[in-house]
Amino acid sequence: MKTEGSEVILSINNVSKSFPGVKALDEVSIDVQRGTVHGIVGENGAGKSTLMKILSGVYQKDSGTVVFDGKQIEHTTPYQSMQSGLAIIYQELNLVNTMSVGENIFLGRFREMKGMKGTHAKARELLDSIACKVSTTKLVSELSVSEKQMVEIAKALSFKSKLIIMDEPSSSLTSEEMCQLVKIINQLKEQGISIIYISHKLDEIFEFCDIVSVMRDGHVIDTKEKSAFTRQELITKMVGRTIENEYPPRPLCVGDTLMEVHSINTHKLHDLSFTLNKGEILGLMGLVGAGRTEIVRALFGADKVRGHRVLIEGKPTVIRNPKDAKDAGFGFIPEDRKLQGLILPFSVESNISMASIRKFSRLGFLRKSLEKDIGARQVKALAVKTPSTKTAVRNLSGGNQQKCIVGRWMETSPRIFIMDEPTKGIDVGAKYEIYNLMKHIVEHGGAIILISSELPEVLNMSNRVLTIFEGRITGEFDPQKASVNEIMGAALGIVEGCV
Ligand SMILES: Nc1ncnc2c1ncn2[C@@H]1O[C@H](COP(=O)(O)OP(=O)(O)OP(=O)(O)O)[C@@H](O)[C@H]1O
Ligand SMILES: [Mg+2]
Repeated sequence: MKTEGSEVILSINNVSKSFPGVKALDEVSIDVQRGTVHGIVGENGAGKSTLMKILSGVYQKDSGTVVFDGKQIEHTTPYQSMQSGLAIIYQELNLVNTMSVGENIFLGRFREMKGMKGTHAKARELLDSIACKVSTTKLVSELSVSEKQMVEIAKALSFKSKLIIMDEPSSSLTSEEMCQLVKIINQLKEQGISIIYISHKLDEIFEFCDIVSVMRDGHVIDTKEKSAFTRQELITKMVGRTIENEYPPRPLCVGDTLMEVHSINTHKLHDLSFTLNKGEILGLMGLVGAGRTEIVRALFGADKVRGHRVLIEGKPTVIRNPKDAKDAGFGFIPEDRKLQGLILPFSVESNISMASIRKFSRLGFLRKSLEKDIGARQVKALAVKTPSTKTAVRNLSGGNQQKCIVGRWMETSPRIFIMDEPTKGIDVGAKYEIYNLMKHIVEHGGAIILISSELPEVLNMSNRVLTIFEGRITGEFDPQKASVNEIMGAALGIVEGCV
């Protein structure tokens, strides 16, 4: 799409790319204007990351042309593309954990910086320019995800980038960190730098992108100015069908008490007690650091807890470690993808079936066919996009890998299912499938504790919401009756509440 008087920094024309069994990109064409934020949306597996990896030289295209800053790009490498002014911040960040911040920013260029002193001084200057206060001598392994992202941005700026690609930068950021990122994006834009911004969060796309391209199944379906799209139209174009509601009706039949938790005390949690009922989705809301993850870790036996009591169906239950938790009927989708235990070279079916298969059989042949059945069932239920259930998980797109984890735990049919950010990185259509599965779990006697930084998700799916602030429960709400302000007030520790 060309607007009058604008200048195209990047022109992608009819680019195609195939992997065995998949046409990941089919004649893709997109123009990116100088000094704009160009959003790219599309279902999991639509081809977004593949296109970006072609631009940055990680993959080579099969056909088509790419013109960047007036020059046609052929066999480029990641380093050459950085040097030509095209930087990419990957879905899974790409820094060396064992090196310092400054060393990461100028990796391989210490001599140009006149040694380590120059490296750190220049790194400081770059970080200051994006209001990042992290010390340049700190090890990357000690940084939070958002700090790592800032380091990646500083690194991109160090190459005098004209275009910065951000592939799902926000999936691990808190709302305050996100505000900071938006400020930086606007600042970069003012300097004439273009941004390609990939996200599944449509609110972000509507908030600060100028132009949006929609991809589906390796094609570009549409590119136009953001203001010319409605949210509904964007979703329909992404998923290829109309989705009337983004959330299924909330499950209604909440039953008797399933679990009572009395007095959890850890160094972060203070005398925390609550109940969970059969058939209930209980949302936990709070800022990052409020103690949401600690509650889950305490319940799951991952952290040491002093003198608390857990009763499941009235029976005292001791949970000392994650195995006890699993035996007591807990299932857990952890937040961090890298800790989720996907074995990347293994097939989709063995990754999905590995938590549940042991309970069926030890016989090799039976095991194989069970593995296949379980894999096929979850691939269908969650619409995992893969050429086959035998494909290595490593070859799936980020969101489809996440679906395999959800499928793995679905198969264990837990009674108490703890979900920490279950739809992170998952597209709108597949989110709906996951919400439906959540509904299915609770309608069959289970219960769910839902932790999510997406407020609409908690408000639309939960029967009850507990707000946590600094390790304490500050409120209990019926999300159908309470206002967002009341709930947020309690989550921010401003007021205590109960509706
Ligand atoms: N190295 C690879 N080998 C084989 N297939 C691949 C490889 N990389 C990607 N694919 C396939 O190409 C298609 C596009 O994947 P891609 O990662 O570009 O999707 P995406 O739009 O970024 O999705 P997501 O929103 O889940 O990140 C998928 O079907 C994926 O399985
Ligand atoms: Mg991707």
